[in-house]
Amino acid sequence: MVYTVTCNPALDYVMWADDVAPGRINRAEKTALTYGGKGINVSAVLTRLGVPTRALGFAAGFTGDKLKALLTADGIAHDFVDLASGETRINVKVKAAEELDFNAAGPAVTTADIALLMHKLDALRPGDFLVLAGTVSKNLPQDLYERMLTRLEGWGVQVVVDAERSLLRETLRFRPFLIKPNHHELGALFGGVELHSAKEIATYAKKLQAEGARNVLVSRAADGAVLVDETGNCHVIGNAPGTVRNSVGCGDSMVAGFIAGWLQRGDYVHALRLGAACGNATAFSDMLATKEEIDKALAYFEE
Ligand SMILES: Nc1ncnc2c1ncn2[C@@H]1O[C@H](COP(=O)(O)OP(=O)(O)OP(=O)(O)O)[C@@H](O)[C@H]1O
Ligand SMILES: [Mg+2]
Repeated sequence: MVYTVTCNPALDYVMWADDVAPGRINRAEKTALTYGGKGINVSAVLTRLGVPTRALGFAAGFTGDKLKALLTADGIAHDFVDLASGETRINVKVKAAEELDFNAAGPAVTTADIALLMHKLDALRPGDFLVLAGTVSKNLPQDLYERMLTRLEGWGVQVVVDAERSLLRETLRFRPFLIKPNHHELGALFGGVELHSAKEIATYAKKLQAEGARNVLVSRAADGAVLVDETGNCHVIGNAPGTVRNSVGCGDSMVAGFIAGWLQRGDYVHALRLGAACGNATAFSDMLATKEEIDKALAYFEE
């Protein structure tokens, strides 16, 4: 089972509009209401790939109910802590010539709510995966990920972290199975150094292995990705051909694909290919990629 944690999930209200300008009424040609949040995206893509997963986090109010209903409708298992007050946030994504994203703050979370989330971790078994993805919102203790990993220490759970700066760095001593910074986030961990070539990226990925990370997957958007696996081998992958339509959830899709690929074959080349296929397929799709879109991109890497 792959558990994901999304501290501050959202309903995403997506509006497609050709022409957007301030100071007038902008009309959307098409709209969609869907679930949002990095851990939830990982669970959604895992579900499409047939990998058992459960999304954990906090939900509140009528928007929280709608979030859960949308997940259930798509067959995505979830087990949220229900907050006594407030509402799960609604984020607005406007898909115009340029993408415009408005992200709201989330509902208040109490110490008791955090304790309930911690208790949910007791369900994890050796060999299960725990994916910690995204920021820990300001109203939560910033050491939440460390607290979770401390609670799970010695249980044989495979940890995946997709977070930035100190939030990521402080998890490294727990020897995460996988971390997935993009190349900017990797550079930011070392004083903002700019990393261009795969060789430079591998050098810095190895520094994070020295700090405890096992597999370091560095995504580079339009340039593909670099994996330094836990045996020290470096793998470079490009992108399948396609037209880019979306940048939301590409990294999350890649995380899901890598985990699914690893579970399928225990092979890093296959895990990287499925990760890249999922990242590409989401980049080429309006929303998170479907299984058919992922299969098409994977076939390109397996040619
Ligand atoms: N422009 C693109 N063309 C093709 N594939 C892309 C593009 N952008 C992203 N991808 C795919 O998605 C993967 C992850 O993208 P990226 O490096 O942008 O992650 P990220 O910055 O972590 O994204 P996120 O916003 O989801 O956190 C890339 O390695 C690639 O496989
Ligand atoms: Mg990312």
